[in-house]
Amino acid sequence: MKRHKEAAQQMDKKDALASFRARFFHPEKEIYLDGNSLGKQPLDAKETLATILDEQWGKKLIRSWNDHWLALPKRIASKLASLLNADPKEVLVGESTSVNLYKLAHALLTSGQFPKQLLTDSLNFPTDNYILQGISEQLPTTAPITISYSSDLTADVPSLKETIKHNPGILCLSLVSYKSAYYYPMKALNNFAKEHNSIIIWDLSHAVGAVDIDLKQTDTLAAIGCTYKYLNGGPGAPSFMYVDQSLIASLKTPIQGWFGHAKPFNFIPDYRAAQGIEKFDAGTPQILSLATLEVGLDITLEAGIGRIRAKSEQLGIYLSSLIKAELLPLGYSLESPEEASERGAHITISHEESWRICQCLLSPKDDRLKIIPDFRPNRFIRLGIAPLYTRYEDLWETVCRLKEIVLEKEYEFHDGNQPTVT
Ligand SMILES: Cc1ncc(COP(=O)(O)O)c(C=O)c1O
Repeated sequence: MKRHKEAAQQMDKKDALASFRARFFHPEKEIYLDGNSLGKQPLDAKETLATILDEQWGKKLIRSWNDHWLALPKRIASKLASLLNADPKEVLVGESTSVNLYKLAHALLTSGQFPKQLLTDSLNFPTDNYILQGISEQLPTTAPITISYSSDLTADVPSLKETIKHNPGILCLSLVSYKSAYYYPMKALNNFAKEHNSIIIWDLSHAVGAVDIDLKQTDTLAAIGCTYKYLNGGPGAPSFMYVDQSLIASLKTPIQGWFGHAKPFNFIPDYRAAQGIEKFDAGTPQILSLATLEVGLDITLEAGIGRIRAKSEQLGIYLSSLIKAELLPLGYSLESPEEASERGAHITISHEESWRICQCLLSPKDDRLKIIPDFRPNRFIRLGIAPLYTRYEDLWETVCRLKEIVLEKEYEFHDGNQPTVT
């Protein structure tokens, strides 16, 4: 195994993105493999926040809205648009992913342009399904259809298409599935949906900043996504919404707040929607979170999403080959697609002792290296690869630990209690 470690270190030396690691905060003696859940803190975020707290909120107070803050959401939306190949007029930033999905799905359903049927699938993130269920209880429509597959690993695309054919409507799918990292064929599904009078709202949360998304080339009409994972925007950083130009005029927001008004600062009594995507805005933007988001987003734009995706594929190929050689013989299973092009940036494994193995990684019994993955019920250990800071050596060390924990039955030292955030 020593030879392998040197090989990993060599690959890190040759890595074109290696210098970006120094832009993030790293606690000592710890490997972080959970950037797919919460990205690391960019070092520049501290100074940015300090300036806002001291100079803008502290000294200039209300004057900062005009001088600094009102322009911030648009500036960030424009940067997100360049990352996703969209027009800046098609992107809005603010609120959580859950709220943006609510607004968008509600607007599409009430627009009368698509059959009033909501659809989702069993690989989707739970909040998306809850939101669709809620809308179907509030509006005159039937319960959402959840398309189920025989495994958690991949979507069965023929059966997905068959369901769309027989039940056209408004779908919500996660471009990269949160469990297995399965990466959907976006363009083919968008086109199939269009042929069947349907539309897909893509949840880009596990994809944005990790895979190269081209909303125009893939004929995408609607999307939402979060920014606190691979974009390193910070805990609870605002989400974004994308709506293709061709649809914006025909949609109506279900939350008529003053920031979505045509003239928010005229304080007139009646609501009149803004013309553009701003109509989906509702209330005051979250300035502190937007500011840290911009810092994270700028690093991604500087590194270039093409290079980030290329590195994530290489790291993924390396990790999956180590898993196959070293871990499968010990009772672990690979729970992500084998082909790099069919998965996002994380790799999921499982074992009958998954939960207690995670505890060993997080809290080793002596001074061994601490490793932070995450656990998703009921058996999934997700190993998040964040190309801006994950190294080949980190992956090599992780596989060594996973091997050791099982060989030494180290998991027997941990109980099975689970905290709230896993
Ligand atoms: C795919 C996906 N969608 C939505 C969410 C929830 O986002 P929010 O908390 O911003 O509503 C998450 C959170 O991890 C997610 O992974």
